[in-house]
Amino acid sequence: MFRYLPEQASQVASEVDWLHYWITDLAVFFTVAICGSMVYFAIRYRRRNGVDHETPRIEGSNFLEIVWTVVPTIISIIVAYYGVVIYNDLVRVDKDAMVINVEGRQWAWDFQYDNGKTTTGELYIPVGKPVQLVLTSKDVLHSFFVPSMRVKKDAVPGRFTYVSFTPIRTGDYNVFCTEYCGMNHSQMLAKLHVRSEAEFAQWKNDRSAELASAQMSPFELGKQLFTSKGCNACHTLNGAPLVGPSYLHLFGSKREFTDGTTLAEADDDYIRESILNPSAKVEKGYAPIMPSFDGQLSDQEILGLIAFIRAYKDGPPAGEEAPAAAAPAADPSTLSPVERGKIIYETKLCKACHTLDGSSLVGPTFKGIYGRKGELADGSSYVANEEYIKHSMLMPNDQVVKGFAPAMPSFEGQLSDDQINDVIAFMKSISE
Ligand code: CUA
Repeated sequence: MFRYLPEQASQVASEVDWLHYWITDLAVFFTVAICGSMVYFAIRYRRRNGVDHETPRIEGSNFLEIVWTVVPTIISIIVAYYGVVIYNDLVRVDKDAMVINVEGRQWAWDFQYDNGKTTTGELYIPVGKPVQLVLTSKDVLHSFFVPSMRVKKDAVPGRFTYVSFTPIRTGDYNVFCTEYCGMNHSQMLAKLHVRSEAEFAQWKNDRSAELASAQMSPFELGKQLFTSKGCNACHTLNGAPLVGPSYLHLFGSKREFTDGTTLAEADDDYIRESILNPSAKVEKGYAPIMPSFDGQLSDQEILGLIAFIRAYKDGPPAGEEAPAAAAPAADPSTLSPVERGKIIYETKLCKACHTLDGSSLVGPTFKGIYGRKGELADGSSYVANEEYIKHSMLMPNDQVVKGFAPAMPSFEGQLSDDQINDVIAFMKSISE
């Protein structure tokens, strides 16, 4: 009964689940038995026709006393015994375990391998090999939780804790922070990738990403760090304030601070100071909560971030996404169908799967889509006319284009006929 735990992906998982379910079933059994007989007796011996049932007086029963003392004692001993045995399996570290350092910070997980390779939010391990993750935290208490592996442990600043397990099947698993640690706690996620030993070795020894970052232009490097270091959790690029000020029009602008001082022009040195020692100058209207990145960024990386912020001095740099925030605010009735279709494309997240530049993502590109001819997954052919496109929005899995997975959700009930026509108008506009 009640088999609800996630996939068992580590060696210890089946033991943990066995005990967990055993205790749960036991609890359900006794709850039903006790409450059931209570309800039964209440009904069976209820007061009827204004007359109470006369009940016999029972003085006690040694037999019953012994049964309901001995049986629960034995059950408790069994539960405690297996609890200790399985806990031991959970905390034991195999002497050949591969050690990976894990550091939690607001709001991401960083991983470091013994060859120096580091990643953020992506943990790769080989299948069938014991691993030991040594946990700590840069700022506040976090908790490292991989449900499929049945491991969970607090990551504490100034202290090392660990989890150890042996993955038994390849796959991708979710890692959560399971200790409330601030505004973006719920976004503090990572992916655990369990791979074959060969694939893992190849991945671990592939340092090309680091090499590439060493050869990137400062702007490209800063752009990459903006997401990989989690700056984007608190700073937007479209002018909207979040936890911290937006990067748009920041560089070169006048800044006011909480202590009443001002700075005529935000320059390189000010940005460097704000990255390394954020509490020195706290922007007026914001809380002094930014963590210091001292020791986490090389000089080259700081220069990259400064170049990135500088690029947003006079608006989004060419080739970067225009701020989308202003678009939905416009009054739809004053817009053309093409403009309205474009807003739907962005706000209904069509853009998550369909590009405008001709490249394929999860779904086919919208560039040149109207009137396109091709083959469907079932071998028949299609022409992307109004009827086909409308049908694809409402019943996407009916006519899946060959080479793509039937992954699109239906927009039935989410888009009016007018809105569908707007999207089609938008598609036509980019298909000439
Ligand atoms: Cu880190 Cu919640």
